[in-house]
Amino acid sequence: MKDAFGLPQSLLVLGGTSEIALATARRLIARRTRTVWLAGRPSSGLDEAAEKLRGLGAEVRTVAFDALDPAAHEDTLGKVFAEGDVDMVLLAFGTLGDQAHDERDPQAAVRVAQTNYTGAVSAGLVCASALQAQGHGSLVVLSSVAGERARRANFIYGSSKAGLDAFAQGLGDALYGTGVHVMVVRPGFVRTRMTAGLPEAPLATTPEAVAAAVELGLRRRAETVWVPGTLRMVMSALRHLPRGVFRRLPV
Ligand SMILES: NC(=O)c1ccc[n+]([C@@H]2O[C@H](COP(=O)([O-])OP(=O)(O)OC[C@H]3O[C@@H](n4cnc5c(N)ncnc54)[C@H](OP(=O)(O)O)[C@@H]3O)[C@@H](O)[C@H]2O)c1
Repeated sequence: MKDAFGLPQSLLVLGGTSEIALATARRLIARRTRTVWLAGRPSSGLDEAAEKLRGLGAEVRTVAFDALDPAAHEDTLGKVFAEGDVDMVLLAFGTLGDQAHDERDPQAAVRVAQTNYTGAVSAGLVCASALQAQGHGSLVVLSSVAGERARRANFIYGSSKAGLDAFAQGLGDALYGTGVHVMVVRPGFVRTRMTAGLPEAPLATTPEAVAAAVELGLRRRAETVWVPGTLRMVMSALRHLPRGVFRRLPV
């Protein structure tokens, strides 16, 4: 169960090698989290991530999970919930793709959409139903500012995050009053392997800063979290710019 401050004892990470997710797991283990499930595509990276969290004192198990295989989600994730209550699910998987390449390769673009959006629809609904059955818990969804307004430079990723964000908001409304809390996290540019080699955007931040914002959001039972918080105002302005102006911005 979560403590009086909303922090989880047990955590399920979907996208178990995500740098943002692992920073969040480390932070939560330092607070109260004792049991962690890392769900992800089997790899040495997933095993190493689990081992590192064990070194911090948590009981950690891995489970094979592929966002691109939604038909398996109910079975895979159902087995995790069957082992005991999960206080928090962190939906962290995602892929940036390669916009220039993917514009010429529609199947690659579809994989971005299927990973970030339809994979999340499937896993999100499976987890929401399990959380509802246990009567409590938080589903924390790593969306992105990229979903606020699609940019020329990454509209394939951005549109998939827009879909994910809208889905998570609607799911949060559907679950309102059930004891299950959905929190949408919208980071800007975070320095992880996902963004390695890309030119850094203004207000760039770190996985640790996202983790701190997630903790604060859980304590406040927030529905939306921007990281850094100033992006809320920035994106509010950008969202309302006329298309012709937005198109010419170097973003
Ligand atoms: N970094 C940023 O600037 C930023 C900003 C805003 C939002 N976000 C979002 O935050 C989340 C975490 O990103 P991150 O920065 O921590 O990047 P990351 O370290 O590259 O993590 C991405 C995760 O997604 C997993 N993944 C990719 N395709 C998958 C699939 N088909 N099935 C299961 N897992 C899959 C990866 O697993 P493998 O190890 O198997 O590849 C990895 O665990 C993503 O949703 C991302 O879109 C990131």
